[in-house]
Amino acid sequence: MKDRIYFNNGWEFSPSFNEKMLDSKYKGKFEQVRIPHSVCETPFNGFDESEYQKLSIYRKFFKTEKEWAGKKILLTIEGAAHQCDVFLNGKFLARHSCGYTAFTVDLTDSLLPAGRNNLLALKLDSRESLNIPPFGFVIDYMTYGGIYRDVYLDIKNPIYIEDIFIKTKASHFETEITLNSSDAEGYSIVQRVESSSSVVAQINTGVPGNKILTAADAQPVHPWTLEQPVLYNLVTELINPKGKIADKKNVRFGFREIKFDETGFYLNGKKIKLRGLNRHQSYPYVGYAMPKNIQKEDADILKLELGVNYVRTSHYPQSKYFIERCDELGILVFTEFPGWQHIGDDAWKAQALENEDEMISQYRNHPSVFMWGVRINESKDDDEFYKATNFLAHKTDSTRPTGGVRCIKNSNLLEDVYTYNDFSHSGKNAGSLDKIKVTKSHGGYLVTEHSGHMFPTKSFDTEQRRTEHAIRHATVLDSVAGHDDCAGSSGWCAFDYNTHKEFGSGDRICYHGVMDMFRNPKLAAAVYKSQEDFTGDFIEVNSNMSIGEYNEGLLGDLWIFTNADSVKLFVNNTFIKEFKASDSPFKNLAHGPILVDDIIGNRLIDEEGISAKNSEKIKELIFAIKKFGQNSLSAKYKLEAAKLFAMRVISKEKLIALFGKYISNWGGESSSYKFEAIKNGKTVKTLVKSMCKNASLKTQVSRTILIEEETYDVAEVHLRAEDENGNLQSFIQEAVLAEAEGAIEIIGPQAVSLKGGMSGIYVKTTGTAGRGTLKITDWQGKETKISFTVKIKR
Ligand code: GAL
Repeated sequence: MKDRIYFNNGWEFSPSFNEKMLDSKYKGKFEQVRIPHSVCETPFNGFDESEYQKLSIYRKFFKTEKEWAGKKILLTIEGAAHQCDVFLNGKFLARHSCGYTAFTVDLTDSLLPAGRNNLLALKLDSRESLNIPPFGFVIDYMTYGGIYRDVYLDIKNPIYIEDIFIKTKASHFETEITLNSSDAEGYSIVQRVESSSSVVAQINTGVPGNKILTAADAQPVHPWTLEQPVLYNLVTELINPKGKIADKKNVRFGFREIKFDETGFYLNGKKIKLRGLNRHQSYPYVGYAMPKNIQKEDADILKLELGVNYVRTSHYPQSKYFIERCDELGILVFTEFPGWQHIGDDAWKAQALENEDEMISQYRNHPSVFMWGVRINESKDDDEFYKATNFLAHKTDSTRPTGGVRCIKNSNLLEDVYTYNDFSHSGKNAGSLDKIKVTKSHGGYLVTEHSGHMFPTKSFDTEQRRTEHAIRHATVLDSVAGHDDCAGSSGWCAFDYNTHKEFGSGDRICYHGVMDMFRNPKLAAAVYKSQEDFTGDFIEVNSNMSIGEYNEGLLGDLWIFTNADSVKLFVNNTFIKEFKASDSPFKNLAHGPILVDDIIGNRLIDEEGISAKNSEKIKELIFAIKKFGQNSLSAKYKLEAAKLFAMRVISKEKLIALFGKYISNWGGESSSYKFEAIKNGKTVKTLVKSMCKNASLKTQVSRTILIEEETYDVAEVHLRAEDENGNLQSFIQEAVLAEAEGAIEIIGPQAVSLKGGMSGIYVKTTGTAGRGTLKITDWQGKETKISFTVKIKR
């Protein structure tokens, strides 16, 4: 007999609720749905938050199995947004009032006799008028609605293990085991810690009551590090008086120690600068309702594509699949209880404490989680409330520090770490504030947000704006890297997200991501990606070098983003200059963006016969014209020019002609810019920028083997308009048509437009094994077919 049965399939759903629907004899119509599910599908943008605010109902019939006799039948719902009333066979059993934590309901006593069909009904309230966090004021993200994470039944013996908490220190560990009953006389506990290849610790102990504490040293163990996040499995067996296994629980964990102090953050004694981003858990069309593999892919994107070592799950606990993948990949997670700026009345606060308790007890075995957020994001000081949230956090988990994200300086620090949203950078000033200007407190300090609304940037914005977006992120990262007393930062934010009417660009999107909603990278993503080697050899350049994209035809600054040691620039195959990583103006970053200060090199000498000395002077003037325009030169450059004209080094006409030839190239043959990224003396990547002649659609799919296990599986297809050299064509916004056949279907519309040259299509399995084909037709009528294999493993 299976001891866990996933309950994600075979649900009836009605987007409106009526008491009669709780009755199994109710004959009305329902939609057939699978979980994760959203109470409504929404368009990409331009819709109202009232769409998902409703009372709805989910119903599922299931048979009481003969084998369940004498067992405990426990229902767990991992995520129901936002208030869920559980009814079994018409009887109310429980209410849960947090859309972001799991809850378990004991169904045993209300089940019908073996062989009979039960009706499980979940009445769901997804209205934002609920008096629970995060509601009560405005919110800068959509809160959606739905049973959007897994639902399952656990079949247990009458005495079972309710919870295990494992705490580690170097190679030592302690566990707190909680049984559902104190009536376990004669029972015992057997524990093993398994590595991938051996057993590294064993414990045998009696059961004194419903709480059992165990401790041991494990040998040999490898610590959980960012580079090698080694995980162990703690197997705990509850043995009954007859010597049989009554219950068994596996907990995956890592050996690691964390510390914050006024000098920064330490993992296993090693100082680490946290470089991260904030993540919202929403997706186009389905809001929160995405299954396991898509959740995991977000962690993959953060670590393997963006190279970050830290994520803040703003502003609520997120899918355990996402967190598990962070454990596996070595990403540190700062998770916080739900809330946004507003603190409600006593009932609201009591619910917040409950949410906090659930968050900590549900996530505390994850090695990736390094701190609890126990303040409502950006709320005012409320000492009484926050003393309570801190007390609760330390009581429930003595191993992790608390933080509390605020936007106010010198607020009362009741947490261990001062976590501050530093939006001080406005493009021209320093990237971040000195800690002393924010708090006089001792102890750790972390910048939990920056950028975001200070510079919303769409993937279809001008090149200049996209460049500034990237450079602002680099400026903050560089500044934080230069402050030893700042543990790091998480930028706002990883992905664009749908939001309420009070926020965003008027279309219900906050374009604050370094990636768009489909997880396509904007230029700012290149700043993050270039900081690490493990993201693969990488080079990106901000500009297509098209004068028409700039006011007065004055090309903006040219920046290189790379993790290489140096980059050689060639214009029309003529070598111009080699730029070293150390030339970057961002001195605190190992791989700060490099400003290309010369695109002429020796060409004036070689091609125009100008002397070396004069070439430098003329180049300086040409670059000044490029930057300011010939009519807006400063007095300094005007004087320089006048001198050269007077000394007959060059005439005004010739200077303008050289500018035309070597920079603006107006009406001339288009130039080609080649960038060779060099690592350890070898060219590892080449990037060519020249005028696009015939853009085409490129597709990239996250996975083509889709597996239904707990529920349906989803893969993402990324769409990108590229020129002949593989460069993104940001201003192609054409339509792309998608058609699914066989064992897959499309989530959302069948026609999508490219936005900033990019878009995405999600395909979903349908419950049948076999082949599925996605046919994509681009704006030129060209077809691409992607084949998927769907396997069912249940
Ligand atoms: C912060 C807030 C975030 C987001 C961000 C936009 O104040 O905590 O949720 O709204 O601003 O920059």
